[in-house]
Amino acid sequence: MEVKKAVIPVAGMGTRFLPATKSMPKEMLPVIDKPVIHYVVEEAIASGIDDIIFITGRSKRSIEDYFDDSPELESHLRHKKNDKQLKVVQDISSMLDIHYIRQKEPKGLGDAILTAKKHINDEPFAVLLGDDIIVNKKPCTMQLIENFQKYGRSTIAVEEVPPEKTGSYGIVKGKPLEGPIYIIDDIVEKPAPSKAPSNIGAIGRYVFTPEIMDCIERTSEGVGNEIQLTDGIRLLNKEQKVYAYRFTGKRYDTGDKIEYVKAIIDFSLQNEETKEDIKKYISGIL
Ligand code: G1P
Repeated sequence: MEVKKAVIPVAGMGTRFLPATKSMPKEMLPVIDKPVIHYVVEEAIASGIDDIIFITGRSKRSIEDYFDDSPELESHLRHKKNDKQLKVVQDISSMLDIHYIRQKEPKGLGDAILTAKKHINDEPFAVLLGDDIIVNKKPCTMQLIENFQKYGRSTIAVEEVPPEKTGSYGIVKGKPLEGPIYIIDDIVEKPAPSKAPSNIGAIGRYVFTPEIMDCIERTSEGVGNEIQLTDGIRLLNKEQKVYAYRFTGKRYDTGDKIEYVKAIIDFSLQNEETKEDIKKYISGIL
């Protein structure tokens, strides 16, 4: 079955990046000349998604504005005969079908995804968390979709995380099946390193069968008194096996200051406009 819809939750507060995120969504932090969320949407599109549902919150208006038409800016660029920039701006607003649902209060990732239940309408769907940029020729979400199509099972992207950081991730206990695929035995939200069943962490890319929605609905408050997606996955795994997939690619958690700077350095070294100057600058300061 084809996976055409994606839910992208962007309602989180971005406290790791205060004060920058006091009046600006963390997803709008720029990496060179595009905000982080633009890269996430590009990954979805490159994976075959044609319908995106953003789960937003009160302070996230600029994300809607970013993907909307901007008549004043467009007419200004037209007037200046700046066709190149005009195309850049127009391409963004015509990327694909985007819908917005407001999560009224921050009640957790599981609750955010559940708000899209009606729109998902019993179809399989992808979830992409808005913080991570993942770089690979075959996009991470496409890798999950292919696994979903092969086995017909919900599939979540995982990677080894530093053992002392298990408290930041959903942590998987699984049995290797073949290649990068594990069958999940259990998944625990943010366990302390001493309680973690492994150091294989869920990194924010998922493909689900629609049954995940009922499972989230049956979930009670978990870690941080929030409705956790991980607890929904745990329930789903009891009814239909969920697979973990060790994705291929490089991940930048742009909600983390060091990772964010690394993303800027790496992207600037690949960008035609900036790479030579940045190379010179870096070798100069080292
Ligand atoms: C969320 C999920 C967690 C997952 C992580 C990936 O946590 O709850 O299971 O491992 O995203 O980034 P958050 O980072 O929103 O606290």
